[in-house]
Amino acid sequence: MEEQDISAPETPLEACPRWLCFSFENPLRLLIHNPVKMLGPYVKKGWTVMDVGPGMGIFTIPLARMVGKNGRAIAVDIQQSMLDGVQNYARRAKVEDRVEFHLSKPGELGVSGPVDFTLAFWMVHEVRDRARFLAQIAAATRPGGMLYLIEPKLHVKKGNFDDSIAMAGAAGFEVSKRPKVAISYAALLQKKA
Ligand SMILES: C[S@@+](CC[C@H](N)C(=O)[O-])C[C@H]1O[C@@H](n2cnc3c(N)ncnc32)[C@H](O)[C@@H]1O
Repeated sequence: MEEQDISAPETPLEACPRWLCFSFENPLRLLIHNPVKMLGPYVKKGWTVMDVGPGMGIFTIPLARMVGKNGRAIAVDIQQSMLDGVQNYARRAKVEDRVEFHLSKPGELGVSGPVDFTLAFWMVHEVRDRARFLAQIAAATRPGGMLYLIEPKLHVKKGNFDDSIAMAGAAGFEVSKRPKVAISYAALLQKKA
């Protein structure tokens, strides 16, 4: 019998379970994290955007609307149940034709790009090897493309967020803005040309 590698489970224990992510998707959340206000200024029609760790798709669907018929939104998650939720939502919102659903592995993003914009909202703290993960996002991003990194103040320390910014910097991103996002640390990064 093949031995199971328990040091690298398919879904790490620290990944947000579906029931908890579901609780993030409520009208109150949309009041403080309005997708159109938060993302609209940075996303253009026709772009390829990536929502890594989309949960149930609270931001994927607005992103799909923003990129329009000729754009593409790629939802990337390590949990198939999350992608199933995003797919249901995309179908109901009638944008399924422009959304791709990509099941990744904890250490392997598996998206080659080129991507114009990536959203990583309240998920990087769940990733075991952040440096590798951010390097893989950088590799998939076109020069001048953006990464919007947002972490929850509730359980991420400022130093930990600063470390993620430094790791993104080592991967080829530089900070272009520090937008204010409720109960979060946030940075908009741009890939150096
Ligand atoms: C706390 S939820 C955040 C959901 C959503 N972005 C939001 O703001 O409501 C974190 C999500 O990241 C996913 N995730 C964790 N590690 C990941 C990884 N290495 N690659 C892709 N997704 C990951 C989890 O499965 C979950 O869907």
